[in-house]
Order: sequence, then C-alpha cells, then structure tokens
Amino acid sequence: MTRIVILTGAGVSAESGLGTFRDKGGLWDRYDLAQVATPEGFVRNPALVHDFYNARRANALDALPNAAHRALARLQGARAGVTLVTQNIDDLHERGGAREVIHMHGQITRALCSVCGSRWDAPRAMHPRDACPACGEPATRPDMVWFGEYPYHMERIAEALAACDLFVAIGTSGEVYPAAGFVEEAAGFGAETLEINLEPSAPGRFDQVIAGPASLTVPAWVAEVLGG
Ligand code: NAD
Ligand code: APR
Repeated sequence: MTRIVILTGAGVSAESGLGTFRDKGGLWDRYDLAQVATPEGFVRNPALVHDFYNARRANALDALPNAAHRALARLQGARAGVTLVTQNIDDLHERGGAREVIHMHGQITRALCSVCGSRWDAPRAMHPRDACPACGEPATRPDMVWFGEYPYHMERIAEALAACDLFVAIGTSGEVYPAAGFVEEAAGFGAETLEINLEPSAPGRFDQVIAGPASLTVPAWVAEVLGG
C-alpha cells in the first residue's frame, strides 16, 4: 500500500474565501505579522491580537469547504495510509469530511489557557479578560502556533514523513519552516514528491507539479489515485 503524506496550506482554503498570507493582497500585506502573530505581539496588545483572530475565526466559521477539502476527505475515507497535515487553522478539512487532521499550527476554533494549559472550543469572539473555564485566570489565547513558537505534533509528522512513499504539498508557498522542509525530509527517505499549487512555488523542488486551482486539480488527482 502506498503511504501518502499530504501537507496543505492557505491555498487549499483560498477558494472558500479565506485569504492567503503571501499572495498579492494577502494577510501579511495588510497586517504587521510581528504585531498579530507573535507571542511578543500578544503580550504587547492582546486586544489587537484577539480582534485579528476574532475576524479570522468569523470568516472561517462562515466559510464553506470547497471541492479540494471534500476530495481529500474522499481519499482518506477510501484508502488507508493517508496522513493529512495542515498549516491552516480553519476547520474546513473537518467540515469537508476529513476524519483525522493534524493541525501543526493549531486551530482557530480552539482556545488555550496560558496559565494552566487547558484547551476548549473557542467562543466566536474572545477577549483579553476572558477567564479560563478550568483555572479562572484571565489568560486565554487562541490555541495556535505563532512565529517563534514550536509547531504541534512534530514527532508524529516526522514519523509519517520517514515512512511515506509519496509526499504531496497542496496550496502552500513553502516559505515557513518547519513545514517548508518537509519535502526535502520526505525525499531524503526516498519518497516521491508532488506539488499541487496555482503555479510551482519553487521550480525543481518537487519531482512533479500539478498547476491550477486546488478545487479543480485536487479532485482530479484524487480520482487518478483512486482509479476513477
Ligand atoms: P519562521 O521564523 O520560520 O517564519 C519565517 C517566515 O515567516 C519568513 O519567511 C516570513 O515569511 C515570515 N515572517 C516571520 N517574521 C516576520 C515579520 N516580522 N514580518 C514578515 N514576515 C515575517 O516562523 P517561526 O518563527 O518558526 O514560526 C513557528 C511556526 O509558527 C511556523 O510554522 C509558522 O508558520 C507558525 N505560525 C502560525 C501562524 C498562524 O496564524 N497560524 C502565524 C505565525 C506563525
Ligand atoms: N489553489 C491552489 N493553490 C493556491 C490557490 C488555489 N486556489 N490560491 C493560492 N494558492 C497558493 C499560492 O500560490 C501560494 O503558494 O497557496 C499558497 C499560499 O501561500 P501562503 O500565503 O504563504 O500560505 P501558507 O503557505 O499556508 O503559509 C504558511 O505561514 O504565516 C504562516 O502560519 C502561517 O500557516 C501559515 C504559514
């Protein structure tokens, strides 16, 4: 059985209306990443960070999964050996039917207490003085990984990369580590590598590239893998 590791980025949710980060007009063109996506920024101005993620949470909750999310769920349901890792903090893979999703940057739908480490489903809007339901401390934050913090589930991802036969990166610019290094890591263990993106993020970096919008290219690729 061919073991497949799939890594998705913001591009897989772009056609659901959720902005990407580094495309023209992307989030990092409009916001100062250091202010809204770093632990230091959160300490400096928690209200600004909560406002930023409250807006992203509302967008994510109001968005609908697209054909790419549904196709990856179809693949996961149709055969064993598919590990789905995402850099995205939205829940569109789950709402598109995916059974098991590894969120290496956390989830906008979850909240975290900085004091006791408790996690719970986030309300639609969070505020700096919200008390943790477990310890009561006003120390709640979105349960996600900011720049300078260590991504989640890295051991599990490393094991999957070491054992996979095919690594597929979908809708990611491959600019931010450690996710950006997964293609070399998988290739180092002998895996074939495939990029599915609007256009190649780094020509020559993958064995194969399928260019085009994910809502068209991903269902076509899944149909080919499943034989129809
Ligand atoms: P990193 O240092 O590897 O990030 C490097 C990239 O981040 C740069 O290439 C640039 O694209 C961007 N970057 C970093 N600082 C920037 C700045 N001040 N202005 C503009 N661009 C900047 O990332 P890291 O520190 O190792 O982050 C750890 C992990 O946290 C990464 O995997 C990252 O993707 C993740 N993260 C998640 C979110 C989120 O919204 N889910 C936001 C930020 C970071
Ligand atoms: N179909 C396929 N790919 C697309 C589409 C689409 N419809 N639209 C955009 N893309 C591609 C772009 O070509 C680009 O390569 O999606 C990628 C988006 O790249 P980024 O905006 O950098 O998003 P991502 O790679 O997910 O960023 C990685 O950086 O800021 C951090 O933690 C944040 O998880 C994020 C990480």
